[in-house]
Amino acid sequence: MKKKNICIIGLGYVGLPLFLELKKKSFNVVGFDNDNLKISYLKKKYINVKKKVFSSSNEIKKCNVYIVCVPTPLNKFLEPDTSFIKSAIKTIISVIEKGDLIIFESTCYPGCTKEMIINEIEKKKEFKFKKDFFVSYSPERIDPANKKFKITDIPKVIGSECKKSLKLTDDIYKKIFKKTYILHKFEEAELSKLIENVFRQINIGLMNEMAMMCKKLEINIWNAIKASSTKPFGFMSFYPGPGTGGHCIPLDPNYLSWKARSKNFFSRYIDLSNKLNQEMPNYIIKRAGNLLKKKKKVFNKSKILVIGLSYKKNVSDYRESPSLKIFQKLLSKVKKIEFHDDFVKNIKIKKNNKIKIFNSINLTKKNISSFDLVIVLTDHSYINWTILSKNSKNIFDTRFVCKNNYLNVEFL
Ligand SMILES: NC(=O)c1ccc[n+]([C@@H]2O[C@H](COP(=O)([O-])OP(=O)(O)OC[C@H]3O[C@@H](n4cnc5c(N)ncnc54)[C@H](O)[C@@H]3O)[C@@H](O)[C@H]2O)c1
Repeated sequence: MKKKNICIIGLGYVGLPLFLELKKKSFNVVGFDNDNLKISYLKKKYINVKKKVFSSSNEIKKCNVYIVCVPTPLNKFLEPDTSFIKSAIKTIISVIEKGDLIIFESTCYPGCTKEMIINEIEKKKEFKFKKDFFVSYSPERIDPANKKFKITDIPKVIGSECKKSLKLTDDIYKKIFKKTYILHKFEEAELSKLIENVFRQINIGLMNEMAMMCKKLEINIWNAIKASSTKPFGFMSFYPGPGTGGHCIPLDPNYLSWKARSKNFFSRYIDLSNKLNQEMPNYIIKRAGNLLKKKKKVFNKSKILVIGLSYKKNVSDYRESPSLKIFQKLLSKVKKIEFHDDFVKNIKIKKNNKIKIFNSINLTKKNISSFDLVIVLTDHSYINWTILSKNSKNIFDTRFVCKNNYLNVEFL
C-alpha cells in the first residue's frame, strides 16, 4: 500500500482517542462523523489540529484506510441495532477504491464483520475480499478515565482470515499500541471482546446478588471483598453497585446471546446476570424507602439528594446510567429530588410530555443538610465524602465511600 491516509468513522468515546493517538504518531488522518454539531465542537476544541482534519462531508475520498468506530446499541426488542454499521459501510462503499483497508472496531456479534462489511462490499462494489480490498476486526478495549491503563497500554487484538489485511493493520497499530495480538479468524476476535464484557457483567451481577444476600445476613460485603482480594491468585475484585451502565456492559452481552439464540442456544449466565444488574435500580429505591421508614419519614414527603448521575466515576457519560434511571424513577415518588455531579452539570428529563432541565446543585453544608436522605450512586474522586457524611441527615451509600464511623450511613 502506498502512503496510508486514514479516516476514522465515528468520533465518540472510542474514535476520538484513537484519532488523537494516530495524529500523535504523525499519520495522515481525517476524522469523519455524521453529527455536524460534534464536528464543529471538535474543530473549536482541537484548534491546533490542521484544518479539514475533522470532517462531516465526503472529504474522505483520498483515504485508503477506514477505521469504523460507530455505536452498536440495541433496538427496542433488545436485539442488535446495526443501523450505524450499515450507514458507515454505505459511506465507505461510496468512496472505497481497490487496495483499501477497513478496520472494524465497534463491538459486534461473531460473524458481523463478514456479514455486514465483507459481504456488503463484495455485493455492492463487485470487489473481491483479499484481492481488491482488505478487512480486519480489531475491538476497542479502552476504559475511559482509567489512568493506570491508557489506550496505548492495552494490547490490541487484530483478527482476520487474510494475511495481507493483518499485516496492513498491524503496521499501523504496532506504531501506537505497545503490543498487538493476532488472530486468524474474525469470529475469534469478535468473541474475545464479548467474553471480556460478559465476564464483567456476570461478576458484577454476582456481587449485586451477594449484596442483596448480605443485607439479609447482616454482613458488610465490602469488608469481605476487601479481605478476599488479599488472595494473590485466583481472585479478582468486583463490587456491587446501583447497576451497570455505559455503552458496553449493559448492551454488548446481548449481541452474543442474540447470536446464540439464532442457533437455538440460550445463555443462562448472560441472561441471569443481565436481569440481576437491571433490577438493581428498583432494589436501591426499595432500600432507600425502607431506610426512610426506619427514620420515621414518609417516602413521598421526603427530600432526596442523589450524588452522581454518570454511569461510573470520573466520566461524564450517562448512557444507560443506573444512577440516572434511579433519579428519574424517584422524580415521581418523592416530594423533592435534586442531584449533584460536576461531570454532568445538567440533564433534560421528559415529564408529563414536557422537557424539564435539572441542574447539578452545589455540595454546600447547607444544601446537604436540607435533604432527608442522600443517595450515593456515583463515587467521583473529587467529592469530599467526610463533609458529605458529617453534614447529611441520612446517607444510603451504594459505593462504600462514606465514612464508616457515622451512624447516619447505611451501605449497600
Ligand atoms: N465507550 C466505551 O467505553 C467503549 C469501549 C470499548 C468499545 N466500545 C465500542 O465502540 C463503539 C463506539 O462506541 P462509542 O462509545 O465511541 O460511541 P459514541 O456514541 O461515543 O460515538 C460514536 C460516534 O459515531 C458517530 N456516527 C454514528 N454513525 C455514523 C456514521 N454512519 N458515520 C459517521 N459517524 C457516525 C456518532 O455521531 C458518534 O459521534 C461501540 O461499538 C462500543 O460498543 C465502546
